[in-house]
Amino acid sequence: MLENNRECYHCAGSHPALCITFDDDPDLVGADDSTSSPRGAAHVARCEAAGLPSRYLLSPDEQWRLVRIPLTGNSVSYTMDGKAAVAGGIPGMPFADAGTLLFFHYPNTWNHFLSDHVLHFRVLPIDANTTEVTTTWLVPKDAQEGRDYDLKRLTEVWIDTNDEDRRVVEENQIGISSPAYEPGPYSMKQESGVLQFVDWYAQTLGGAVKGPTALAAE
Ligand SMILES: [Fe+2]
Repeated sequence: MLENNRECYHCAGSHPALCITFDDDPDLVGADDSTSSPRGAAHVARCEAAGLPSRYLLSPDEQWRLVRIPLTGNSVSYTMDGKAAVAGGIPGMPFADAGTLLFFHYPNTWNHFLSDHVLHFRVLPIDANTTEVTTTWLVPKDAQEGRDYDLKRLTEVWIDTNDEDRRVVEENQIGISSPAYEPGPYSMKQESGVLQFVDWYAQTLGGAVKGPTALAAE
């Protein structure tokens, strides 16, 4: 589930609704600082100048990351037309086209902070082959359904996207579970985020198994 979340190689072929507004440029959404994309760098500079925390931050142990990226064109939210889903937006935002502030904290959450609402994803392992993903849409506390937002318009893109990802992940798992499965190399361009996650996972699990003394001796 998390490996799927950490790459957008599959987005163009799987997420027609999301790709209206989400830019799948690997230089924007990969493991590295988004300033490797001129468009990403310009967006971060514009938002930081307006007082919006936006620059790439990775914790020393690589468990969490923050970075703000632009959406496609003039899009302001994850809607079918790219326009806002919630009237008025989040108080204090300097402009509507602030893109999305991405925040993951392994292994249990990823989040999108938009200018008009926030998307929170909780990842909960149920057993070795089952993961529950719960999506919560957060709107400003004074926003009222029917007046300031339409629930279908607010939620339809990620309801579709989650279901598309469920299918991708389930089908990948069928392949991985096959006795004929052999791992292949990751794409350094398209799957740098997956590599970063797998490295974090292996180091964290390895450290837990070996204990701090064994790690210090290496
Ligand atoms: Fe996806």
